Amino acid sequence: MAYKIAVIPGDGIGQEITEEAVRVLKAVDAKFGLDLTYETRDAGGTAYDKYGTPLPEDTLAVCKASDGVLFGAVGGTKWDAVEPALRPERAILGLRKGLGLYANLRPVKVADALIAHSPLKPELVRGVDLVIVRELIGGIYFGEKCESEQVDGAERAWDMENYSVPEVERIARLAFETARLRRSKVTSVDKANVLATSRLWRRTVTALAEEYEDVRLDHLYVDNCAMQLAVRPTQFDVIVTGNLFGDILSDEAAVIGGSIGLMPSASIGTGTSLFEPIHGSAPDIAGQGIANPLGTILSAAMLLRYALHEENAADAVEAAVDEALAEGKRTADIYIADTGCTKVGTREMADAVLAHL
Ligand code: NAD
Ligand code: IPM
Ligand code: MN
Repeated sequence: MAYKIAVIPGDGIGQEITEEAVRVLKAVDAKFGLDLTYETRDAGGTAYDKYGTPLPEDTLAVCKASDGVLFGAVGGTKWDAVEPALRPERAILGLRKGLGLYANLRPVKVADALIAHSPLKPELVRGVDLVIVRELIGGIYFGEKCESEQVDGAERAWDMENYSVPEVERIARLAFETARLRRSKVTSVDKANVLATSRLWRRTVTALAEEYEDVRLDHLYVDNCAMQLAVRPTQFDVIVTGNLFGDILSDEAAVIGGSIGLMPSASIGTGTSLFEPIHGSAPDIAGQGIANPLGTILSAAMLLRYALHEENAADAVEAAVDEALAEGKRTADIYIADTGCTKVGTREMADAVLAHL
């Protein structure tokens, strides 16, 4: 069985963390005989600097022709003044749209070794095991927008939010199916007390729930959900929500597990799937060799599981990550002094994972 992996490091720490995740994939390949081959392509600001576009056609084509995409991160202050259509972030938005990746799965679990490291109290985070199912190619991200116009002598800008029933149905269906494989509970998050798109969202999810009577469905307003994630995160199993709310809630939920640097994701649709950590290019620490590579390494594990259906290889990577944490290896984002842990850099953290494979 030969698999083609497209590797898109992107910008900032994206370069450092994907390099480590590929090392882990190569080791797991050697162990399980997966026969992986890699095609690396530019995207984001790096591609803009070289080719004048954040998402070269060839990059998208290589991703489409692959069995799975491993993506790092794009963006950075260097490109803040670039015109909106050419911003680095357009690369990941274009890949999601171009590959039809309508769903983004963002699991949040707390490793035993990190319970004491969460900014939340240990008794609140112990046992947290939730997944945010974020709609990824619709909503306000992809609606019509106006960067600038003059109205009554004042400059204004606008972004339109819209969702159709089929768009909501397909993401909600995935959430119900996901819940069936877990603890059979779906929390749909919206702002139906204010937004028309949210009222359509809630109606659609409620109607679909009739096909899933074995799954318990609750609705929460997004402001309350943001609070509930901090006060009682164990109440959640599957959270399904729109593009913007899912973006915000997943960064918040990442805190539960100790650091955003630990959080992986899988973006799936009808074609090739894409796997990336939920964090960005972290310009504040880029190039220093201190970024946490585990979110990307765990994204590689999700690639093995969801794109290649190599369960044993995925389990092995996840177990090796747990063991590296259990032996006290900590990058700066999860290091606490005087707890007997060892502070390590990006490379050493990946070395620790490799040692347990
Ligand atoms: P960010 O996620 O890059 O960083 C937020 C904070 O978390 C920073 O303090 C950073 O140092 C820290 N952090 C993030 N990942 C880490 C890791 N692996 N290890 C240790 N610490 C880590 O968010 P931001 O600063 O708001 O955005 C920076 C750039 O990244 C922006 O250009 C943004 O658009 C882009 N971005 C890209 C993606 C993506 O490519 N999917 C996702 C989010 C943000
Ligand atoms: C993410 C990022 C992206 C998003 C940006 C970079 C477009 O924040 O993957 O969470 O908003 O989806
Ligand atoms: Mn985000």
